[in-house]
Amino acid sequence: MLTNNNLQESIITQNEENMFLLANEDGKVGVEKAVELLNNNKTSIDAIVEGISKVEEDPHSKIVGLGGIPDISGEVTLDAAIMDGSTLDFGAVGCIKKHVNAIKIAESILHDSPHCLLVGEGADRYAKEKNIPLRSPLLQKAEDQWRELFKTYVNEDIPDSLEVVALAEWCKKAIIGAHGHLFKDTTIFMAKDHKENIAVGTSTTGWPLKYPGRLGDSPVAGAGFYANNKWGAAACTNTGEMALRANTAFAVVQYMKIGLSVEEAVYQSMKDLTSLKGGLLSDLVVHGIDKQGKYKVACYHSKPHGEPAPKFYYWHKEHSTELALIEAETMFRDDILSMNHKF
Ligand code: GLY
Repeated sequence: MLTNNNLQESIITQNEENMFLLANEDGKVGVEKAVELLNNNKTSIDAIVEGISKVEEDPHSKIVGLGGIPDISGEVTLDAAIMDGSTLDFGAVGCIKKHVNAIKIAESILHDSPHCLLVGEGADRYAKEKNIPLRSPLLQKAEDQWRELFKTYVNEDIPDSLEVVALAEWCKKAIIGAHGHLFKDTTIFMAKDHKENIAVGTSTTGWPLKYPGRLGDSPVAGAGFYANNKWGAAACTNTGEMALRANTAFAVVQYMKIGLSVEEAVYQSMKDLTSLKGGLLSDLVVHGIDKQGKYKVACYHSKPHGEPAPKFYYWHKEHSTELALIEAETMFRDDILSMNHKF
């Protein structure tokens, strides 16, 4: 029976019309499931975890879960995170090797652990204790692709064992030399549910040919993802080093907090990126959404390279029953510098 109190609560906290989902194009196999779950009044966290799990299970994805391309030592390692915008709590994993379902481990850490971020052997151990199925993410076709990338970008014969060879210079040569041409991506999902809770999730195998132990932005709160029910959410894909240096996802949400529109907030985060000097500078795609579901997605290019503009999926309960596939705005460093910005 509804009491006056819980009637009030349902009026205050239930607003199905405001539900939304925004996911990047790499989330394709998971977006319909996520929308279905939101429509069935599941939480934004459940919708994101199930959506991202589908991407992780998809053997065709070269940059997430099963079938991800190995690092320079030939091993596939996964990073993932899920953040709850109602509590500002998150669960994340980095550099796991023995599991495909990184987002489920992150979810378990969020719900069931005093910690936020587990990496390496400890994260795989935690997953085993929580009965998350052990499964190698490495597939033969990804190993074949790794051999090709190694030959192209490292340009050396692959030794029988990579365990004792020095990899740092080879890695540098490959990452710098391949500017813009390695599949350096991630899947990101941001959603708001019928209780107006906003969440964000990420999952990636990071850069092919990355150095063993390298973490990108995807498992790091504030860099690759951030959500706060009061303002909205943000998530990044592509060159994680840039988001780590500029704390990009947190910056977008903070810019909204101080009164900027989501569009201005994302532009402002692009302006921040123009201050990065030296180090690894390439592309960074910044996805921002405010609590009403207004969005801005833009791709920062350090320099032109002719790659097509990234796309993203967007659904808003009030506006459409369909998922739209939309092209992000691409922006070059010099264009951003010439814009009139607040800061
Ligand atoms: N944005 C994914 C990564 O840099 O690993």
